[in-house]
Amino acid sequence: MKIAVLSDIHEGINRKKTETDIFAILKESLLEQVPDVFILSGDITAGPDKSLNLLKRLQSELPKIQILYVHGNHDVYHEDSRVAYHTLMKFQGNLGHGPVHLNSEWVVIGDGGWYDYSFGEKEFTNEEFTNGRFDDFTWPDKIHANWFEKDEMVAEKYVAKLDAWLAEHQHKNIIMVSHFVPFKYFVHVKNEPAWDFFNAMMGSSGFGALAEKYRVKKLVFGHIHTRYHEEYRGIDCICNPLGYFPHEWTSELPQQEISSTMKIIEI
Ligand SMILES: [Fe+2]
Ligand SMILES: [Fe+2]
Repeated sequence: MKIAVLSDIHEGINRKKTETDIFAILKESLLEQVPDVFILSGDITAGPDKSLNLLKRLQSELPKIQILYVHGNHDVYHEDSRVAYHTLMKFQGNLGHGPVHLNSEWVVIGDGGWYDYSFGEKEFTNEEFTNGRFDDFTWPDKIHANWFEKDEMVAEKYVAKLDAWLAEHQHKNIIMVSHFVPFKYFVHVKNEPAWDFFNAMMGSSGFGALAEKYRVKKLVFGHIHTRYHEEYRGIDCICNPLGYFPHEWTSELPQQEISSTMKIIEI
């Protein structure tokens, strides 16, 4: 079985910056690779309605590919992110609906997740992370995402939900998926306070702990716009973002960037 993995397409921003139809190129690339499953680990575009629309279009135009999705932070930008979450659940392949069995051995379990400051650098306080401001920069989620509770609580609920699903399927081969980063190992510490401050908003060690506890085979995530595919703590970890044009891309050409970035794994 062939599984394609990609995250952080940021369709709106990349379409405007490249002045090309990113959606059409993505579709073309999938038609070339013909995977059985496409795992999209969040940040499709900004706002739930636009993200839902793109997901539905992609699935209806590629009916032979099973699209599985978790939301990113940009996908839940809304005056009420709880409403955004439910809007995105209108997509059948949203992993928030529950575990998806690929065959008798493999199951995909995931949800977007959130961050809880567990990757925060020690020189800052949780109160500072709650404010989310360093110098004159405010973390955009603090303005555009609205959960009406503390980030730590939001993350904790996702961890609890995934814990239950993973426990039920622990004897299967599990592919766990989140948007947010599960291990601090994958977060860059630059020793520049203006960068390192925002590491608190990269993910939660709770997700990594679950992956280890249930010995998941593969762990797919996104959010940090750095590409990784390596074994860490016995888990095949895949972070495969498209990221922002041009500074995070290796090619000037969207066709080339998308098709070369699309990760194909076999199970
Ligand atoms: Fe992103
Ligand atoms: Fe993100």
